[in-house]
Order: sequence, then structure tokens, then C-alpha cells
Amino acid sequence: MTDQARDPEARPRVLSGIQPTADSFHLGNYLGALRNWVAMQRDYETFYTIVDLHAITVPQDPEVLAANTRVSFAQTLAAGVDPERSAVFVQSHVPEHTQLAWVLMCLTGFGEASRMTQFKDKAGKSGTANASVGLFTYPILQAADILLYQATKVPVGADQRQHLELTRDLAGRFNSRFGDTFVVPEPHVLADAAKVLDLSDPTAKMSKSTPAGCVFLLEEPKRITKKIKSAVTDSEAVIRYDPQRQPGVANLLEILSALQGEAIDDLVEGYSGVLYGTLKGDVAEAVVAFAEPFAQRTREYLEDPAELDRLMAVGAQKARAVAADTLQTVYRRIGFVPAG
Ligand code: TRP
Repeated sequence: MTDQARDPEARPRVLSGIQPTADSFHLGNYLGALRNWVAMQRDYETFYTIVDLHAITVPQDPEVLAANTRVSFAQTLAAGVDPERSAVFVQSHVPEHTQLAWVLMCLTGFGEASRMTQFKDKAGKSGTANASVGLFTYPILQAADILLYQATKVPVGADQRQHLELTRDLAGRFNSRFGDTFVVPEPHVLADAAKVLDLSDPTAKMSKSTPAGCVFLLEEPKRITKKIKSAVTDSEAVIRYDPQRQPGVANLLEILSALQGEAIDDLVEGYSGVLYGTLKGDVAEAVVAFAEPFAQRTREYLEDPAELDRLMAVGAQKARAVAADTLQTVYRRIGFVPAG
């Protein structure tokens, strides 16, 4: 790192992103990702982005995309990401993401990109032949997101491991071909404990594609309570933490433990001889106690669109200051003639 050399006193950088593809985040987004985003603000220089460029790799209705981007941004702040401490921004507001992505695409082998397994999963039933080329190059855009900020750590779920490996490979390749330019990021795969499972099918991860088992943070408290009270458990009738044999109960205990900051073992002890209904009631109460004020804060941001726009602009400006610097070095190193 020559031009990019940073003050050794500076906090190491973190970047993460979330897609604006739902009208509400769900409990898994919060406990699995956002909560860590908030916590990392203390020790790192944090960059958090709402990845609308990634969202259009599959068809999006323009109005819905715009609304989801705003609500995602508002919820990120409502979760406790502080726009003063972090750069919170919308990906398309920082054109350097697309610009670096192109350069990286030209350094990625077709075979290498073809090995990304999420492409096949996301292409879904209609198959890879009908998927967009953007969906195919999605991981390369993600690499650009990360490398632009010289991020040392990238907090992501286990499903993003392969994309991070690609990012590391591309960083290393660029550095060896054109000289040290990028920090090679460390994956910071979030603990399994933060993996929230589907309430109606505790063998699957909580996902918006199965709404019956998914707690949306902006939905009515009554519906949240109903979903939790109908969570699938088992017929053992004993509250134990055994994710293999009793995944439904283990999931409820994990949610409660995460929200209340109490160790699972202590919770289990307190529930000896207690029925599942009581545990479910407690989980519902804890989730609603978080979700209700969270939804209220989100609404407050959304009700003041001018302020939301201002915060987006502030975030984009902070991000651009760093991104433009990296891109300039990249362009020079690969032999692009300066515009003057
Ligand atoms: N692909 C990530 C996901 O689906 C979202 C994402 C886009 C991201 N760019 C990123 C995550 C950069 C971490 C860093 O969750």
C-alpha cells in the first residue's frame, strides 16, 4: 500500500452490505447482521451500504425498489447504525462501485466466475440460461464493494464465504500484477448462534420467501406474536438446548438469548419443568419489545424524507471520499490515461 497507506492509528475498516429487496427487514437480518454492524462501530471505521445495484440482478419494479431502498436505509439507522460514526450509503450513489467492478470483471476468469454456487441457486427454477449476466457477475460487484474501502473485515453470513474468497483472490491478483493496491480482507463470518431459523420449519434459515415462519420487524406486533406462538417445536416437551434433536426449541432459546443478552444455559435452567407455551410467550414478548420501538424509529425517519435524503447524501459523500481515492490509484496502475 503506497498511495493507500493509512495512518497506523486509524481504526481498521469494515464494510458490509444488505439488499433492499423487502419492505421490512426480518429478525434474522437483525440478529444475524445488523446487530453486529452496530457493535462494530465502536472499534472499526465502518462502511455500510444498501446494495441496490445488486438488487437489480433480478427483476425489480422501479417504485418498489425505490421504496425498499428508503425503508432499508431507515431501518439500518433505526437498528442503531449511527450516521455520524459510520458511512451509511446507497450503493448506486457511489459510481466507483460499478467502475471498479468492471476492472475486476476483466481480471476474473469465466470459469472462476462460473464456480460461484449462489448464481445457480439464485437463478432458480427458470435456470441459468435465463438469468441476467448481472446475476452472474454479482460476486465481482461485491468484491468491488469491499476492495474500494480497503476493508480489513467483512461481517457476513456463512453463505457469503465463497464471495469473500473470490474477493481475496481478486485483491491478491491485482496486487501481484499491478503493485500493492488493495487490502486483502479477512472474512468475519458471523457466529452460527446468530443464525435465526424459520419458525415454521426450523431446519431452514429464516427467510422472507417463507413469510409464515419469518418475523418481519415492521409487521404488526399481533402478527409477530401469532407467528412465534405457532412456532414448530417437537413432542419432547422438555426445554433443552439441543439444536440437532430439538431445532425449533433451540431456535427460540437462541432468539431469546440474543435479545436479552442472557446465556442459553441460564435460560434453560430457568425453564426446567416449564411448557413450550411459556417459552414462546416470553420470546414473543422479547421480540415485540424490540420490534415495536424499532418500527417507530423507522417510521420517524420515513416521515421526514428531506432528512432521510440528507443523511443519504452525507453517507454517499463519506463513502466517495474513500472510494474515489482507491479508484484513482487503480486506474493509474492499470494504465488508464488521466482525464486531465
Ligand atoms: N451479497 C450480500 C448478501 O446477499 C450482500 C452484499 C453486497 C455484501 N455487497 C456486499 C455483503 C459487500 C458484504 C460485503 O448478503
